Amino acid sequence: MVSKIRKNIMREDVELPRKKSKVLMNILWEAQEKYGYLSEHVLKQISVEHKIPIAKLWGVVKFYSMFRTEPVGKYVIEICSSPSCVLNGSNTLEEVLKNEIGARTGQTSKDRLFTLYKTSCIGLCDEAPAMLINGKPYTKLTEARIKKIIAKLREKANANIEKN
Ligand code: FES
Repeated sequence: MVSKIRKNIMREDVELPRKKSKVLMNILWEAQEKYGYLSEHVLKQISVEHKIPIAKLWGVVKFYSMFRTEPVGKYVIEICSSPSCVLNGSNTLEEVLKNEIGARTGQTSKDRLFTLYKTSCIGLCDEAPAMLINGKPYTKLTEARIKKIIAKLREKANANIEKN
């Protein structure tokens, strides 16, 4: 009986930090989804609202590459730089992307439409090379396909500007 209670106590001790860190990740993720990136102002608000030290928030945000602390473009492009994609030409396609959007990897285009990042494997190795744009997968990429995708997104963004 005592050992069963001890086991449960130990399990709670082990699981509690995990639950808390999962909650923290969700809070940060939702804030990023809402504001586009995690500014100092947003992190301060989270810190006060959830009673989490700001230093801890910065630590988590800086550790995980999925969190952004700078404004990003309307379309966030993440080109896979893991082995299957590299072997299928993703490095060359990264250069194509840079030329098409007019920005370097890790930067946002001057028109604020595109931000380009490298990412590790996104689980689409069988359809390499692959990338995500705002989380949507694009696979079996070629230079021509990338040019078409970027042109289409630019056209869509311009059409939206004209509408408003
Ligand atoms: S290596 Fe690129 S999707 Fe897996």
